[in-house]
Amino acid sequence: MRSWCFFAFFWLAYFCYGTLSCPALCKCYLRRSEVVCNSVPLTEYPSEDLPKNTTMLTIQFTNISSISEQYLNPTPLLQGLHLYSNHLQNLSSHLLRGVPLLHTLDLTGNKLSELPVDVFSHAPLRNLVLKNNLIEAVDSNWLPDNSSVTWLDLSGNRLTEIPTALLEKLPHLYNLDISNNRLGKISAAFLDPLAKLERLNLQNNKLETLDEFTLQGTHNLTYLFLSRNKLNKLPQNLFQELSQLKLLSLDDNQLSHIPVGLLDPLKSLDEEGLDLTNNPWLCDGKVEYLLRWLQKNKEKVFLPETVICAKPESLVGRPVMSLTQSDLNIKS
Ligand SMILES: *[C@@H]1O[C@H](CO)[C@@H](O)[C@H](O)[C@H]1NC(C)=O
Ligand SMILES: *[C@@H]1O[C@H](CO)[C@@H](O)[C@H](O)[C@H]1NC(C)=O
Ligand SMILES: *[C@@H]1O[C@H](CO)[C@@H](O)[C@H](O)[C@H]1NC(C)=O
Ligand SMILES: *[C@@H]1O[C@H](CO)[C@@H](O)[C@H](O)[C@H]1NC(C)=O
Ligand SMILES: *[C@@H]1O[C@H](CO)[C@@H](O)[C@H](O)[C@H]1NC(C)=O
Repeated sequence: MRSWCFFAFFWLAYFCYGTLSCPALCKCYLRRSEVVCNSVPLTEYPSEDLPKNTTMLTIQFTNISSISEQYLNPTPLLQGLHLYSNHLQNLSSHLLRGVPLLHTLDLTGNKLSELPVDVFSHAPLRNLVLKNNLIEAVDSNWLPDNSSVTWLDLSGNRLTEIPTALLEKLPHLYNLDISNNRLGKISAAFLDPLAKLERLNLQNNKLETLDEFTLQGTHNLTYLFLSRNKLNKLPQNLFQELSQLKLLSLDDNQLSHIPVGLLDPLKSLDEEGLDLTNNPWLCDGKVEYLLRWLQKNKEKVFLPETVICAKPESLVGRPVMSLTQSDLNIKS
């Protein structure tokens, strides 16, 4: 079979070498050792056709359904492997044993559900993306102890819980994305192993509340996304240690009140850094803390005039910030 190689350097020359390998219909940028196979009619990983010195490989929108260790062995210099939107269902155990330089593995948009022991061991992975698959449960034995992963994206799966044993293997993590899953509860000690955590995305899950100790160990947390859950109650000390937090999204939840003092520790919020919209605020005497806080910190709140009362009847639609003492007295 002839193999075609496309060069796209500044002079836009185009060569074809029979001796240099490049998988059919893929693009091989030999200068930077990069290969891109985009919407190519592949059903198997094109292992043998890849240039030996490939460091970056993208295979997207193909029909490959599994990969195993043997397929990756011929390209031991691989550093980045991007496998978006294929039909991957199976990965083998010890998948990364032959790629000791791999730092980025992106498996977004496949059909992965169950994965074997040690599937992400051996390589010095920093970025691991498992977004938009069919994963129902993650297992700590997928990873080695003291994993080097700093960026973990598990968003868009079917997770109902995250085992603490998994996070205990990730002491270097600074970004954790578990948005768009089915988490109903997270334990108090959940984040304890993640002292370096800076970004936590729990958006669009089924959380109703959080334990008061959940965020006590993550002093460097800077971005916290909690929107589109079912939060109806937050403990008073929840944000106690979050003096570095710049962004907090609490929009689209079921909050009718927040406890006195809840927002006081948030000294570093960005302008418009706090989103409280789309909650059913109950504007009775207990809204006073929120009202005063909003008046004092307007510039830190996203669209503060749209933080509105859902109850009582007489105040429906009124911006919380605009309430007066007499509005509240009438109702209290
Ligand atoms: C990779 O190998 C090919 C073929 O041997 C060579 O032409 C190319 O220059 C190499 N690329 C790098 C970055 O070394
Ligand atoms: C993948 O397989 C389907 C069904 O067999 C086919 O219609 C589609 O064209 C294939 N995609 C590619 C990129 O080959
Ligand atoms: C791949 O995964 C599918 C679905 O998870 C399973 O039915 C099939 O047996 C697996 N195949 C292999 C070779 O492991
Ligand atoms: C964990 O890994 C880091 C580097 O990734 C290393 O510096 C550290 O010594 C390791 N710690 C343990 C307990 O193995
Ligand atoms: C928190 O951030 C500071 C400043 O960036 C840094 O010096 C410190 O090491 C971080 N703490 C942890 C546990 O990563």
